[in-house]
Amino acid sequence: MTDTAPQAHQADLLANLPAALRDRAAALDAADPLAHHRDLFAPSEGLIAYLDGNSLGRPLAASRDRLASFVDGPWAARLIRSWDEGWMDAPTELGDALGRVVLGAAPGQTVVADSTTVLLYKLARAAVAARPGRGVIVADTENFPTDRFVLEGIAAERGMELRWITPDPEAGVTPQEVAAAVGPDTALVLLSHIAYKSGYVADLPAITRIAHDAGALVLWDLCHSAGSVPLSLDADGVDIAVGCTYKYLNGGPGSPAFAYLAAGLQHEVRQPVQGWMGSADPFAMGPGYEPAPGIRQLVSGTPPVVGMLPMRDMLALIEQAGMPAVRAKSLALTGFAMDVADEYLPGVRVASPRDPERRGSHVMLDHPDFRRVVAQAWERGVIPDFRPPQGLRVGLSPLSTSFTEVALGLWTIRDLLG
Ligand SMILES: Cc1ncc(COP(=O)(O)O)c(C=O)c1O
Repeated sequence: MTDTAPQAHQADLLANLPAALRDRAAALDAADPLAHHRDLFAPSEGLIAYLDGNSLGRPLAASRDRLASFVDGPWAARLIRSWDEGWMDAPTELGDALGRVVLGAAPGQTVVADSTTVLLYKLARAAVAARPGRGVIVADTENFPTDRFVLEGIAAERGMELRWITPDPEAGVTPQEVAAAVGPDTALVLLSHIAYKSGYVADLPAITRIAHDAGALVLWDLCHSAGSVPLSLDADGVDIAVGCTYKYLNGGPGSPAFAYLAAGLQHEVRQPVQGWMGSADPFAMGPGYEPAPGIRQLVSGTPPVVGMLPMRDMLALIEQAGMPAVRAKSLALTGFAMDVADEYLPGVRVASPRDPERRGSHVMLDHPDFRRVVAQAWERGVIPDFRPPQGLRVGLSPLSTSFTEVALGLWTIRDLLG
């Protein structure tokens, strides 16, 4: 392929779009104040439409330079001395940056470490231990498997009851459902803020209040929220939150997760994986474990310093754009995707909330042929993902996605549906 071949292919595809759709997408792109950010991402050969930024964010070109200069700089040039020159503090320093830019959290309450799954275990296990005498954990059947599986393990380990809410799968858990499930027996409520299938945004402030009124702690999974919707964890009185950094924070595959633990709880919540790096003085090599004061106690082992690099570039970009602008574009993208599905995809149903207040940054579409269609779309450089039983998930990462890209992607889906 010559250098001009991809552009020529793209032009052919554009020419195939109905004029009304092509013009509407072009007008939205022209009016988009964040459009220029898309050029900052590393090119992906043969890509027509990336509709899965809610699974793995695209790399920023700046991350390439950051990773390369890390090898020659802090790693090769400074070697072990770098632990004292910044690496040791990276979990809390980067945690504070996350708190400031995307979580609405004052410093000293966020840490970057482990994976989401491991942090869910550590924090959920710590939360139930902090509410002794309460034997129930409330969760929902539509939550991501790892959340449900971790809770199954904790319930078995502690002899607790798991009380399941069964929400509408095309929406999500409502305050009323939580109010009906919690009581004086409830230690913990664990929910996703944005549902991984439907994209429903739960009413975080209301649900948090309901759980607190029952005397329970709440743990929010923010995997699909961090970097896509503005959050105010401090102002909303959130106790605990956990999330990943490889989706809308573009940290790359396997980048470490983050955990938020409200300052007021840090003296009473004690996580179970007592490693040396979260101890009060790791290099004392002492005989027994004494937790570090503050949020540092959530760290267990050696911080994943390399994995923390790319997300720094995305955080800087989000800070520059501002979360309100990111959210505005996200809503415009999901609204556009729903309109295109309604108008141009016969037999396809939108299985996500239409209310902007309850809508995250991805849209679930429903059709019996989507398993086949998603596999074929990938071969054409159109990349959504498939979620059983028959859902095609359109993830729209606001800083790396254009409206024309969405139009081209969904038109390809139409083509493949035949
Ligand atoms: C809501 C939610 N929680 C957790 C995870 C994954 O956890 P981990 O980062 O440990 O793989 C995902 C992954 O997509 C998710 O969507």
